[in-house]
Amino acid sequence: MGHLDGKVAIVTGGAQGIGRAIAGGLARGGARIVVADLHHAEEAADNFPGGVGLTVDVSSEEDAARMVRETVERCGSVDILVNNAGLYASLEMRPFTEIPLEEWNRVMEVNVASMFLTSRAVVPVMREQGGGKIVNISSGTPFRGVPFLLHYVTSKGAIVAFTRALAKELGKDSIHVNCVAPGFTMSDGVKAHPEVVEKLRDASVSARTIQRDQVPEDVVGAVVFLCSPAADFVTGQTMVIDGGQYFH
Ligand code: NAI
Repeated sequence: MGHLDGKVAIVTGGAQGIGRAIAGGLARGGARIVVADLHHAEEAADNFPGGVGLTVDVSSEEDAARMVRETVERCGSVDILVNNAGLYASLEMRPFTEIPLEEWNRVMEVNVASMFLTSRAVVPVMREQGGGKIVNISSGTPFRGVPFLLHYVTSKGAIVAFTRALAKELGKDSIHVNCVAPGFTMSDGVKAHPEVVEKLRDASVSARTIQRDQVPEDVVGAVVFLCSPAADFVTGQTMVIDGGQYFH
């Protein structure tokens, strides 16, 4: 018996990287997994018993609503939402004066507005059920003030504020909202960009207390804990999971 038996969990961006590892951890706890991703959602979902894959752009209002509707139709409920989808490694690091407004806006849409849209779609279902868990994936970058990715760092800082204010608003509904902030992680998205690995890998490892690469699996325990009954008195919090690079 797992501590998440009978629960239905949506993981956005769950087809690869950190999201895929989180989906695996929730599945090991007994949850039924819905992978919501722009690409390869169904293939990824096939790895999990009863897994459902939904091709979704989380920055689209329509898609976010459809994601929740189809999950309820096919699985009967939504108990857990992990807002993990985001733009990171594909973003060029450069002085903020060189960031085009279009790119700034796209980062805000995919990394922040998406969480507003998916939460707005899922909360009525969770209220009806009498509770739920939402976990948002931020990053260590807003705590450290990492330069040359101003749109990204700003978007990830917004997620911490979003988590706190939404948690306050939903406490009375027994809907817990928390945040996990990973350090530089060797995800699929990062590995696909050798220039990013080259720039950040060694510097990140040497800045940590635990001096090794961070891998997607490192983030899983914190997320699974926050989705489980063991965290029923935890809300509005941000856990930094970065091998002790930044003490939050
Ligand atoms: P990744 O690039 O390996 O995977 C991201 C997944 O999200 C992909 O499957 C992609 O198709 C999906 N996705 C992207 N935009 C989407 C959209 N609009 N709708 C639906 N799905 C979409 O990414 P990674 O590195 O695993 O990152 C996952 C999350 O963790 C992101 O929010 C990222 O900002 C955050 N993070 C990553 C860190 C890292 O160093 N890799 C460090 C801290 C946070």
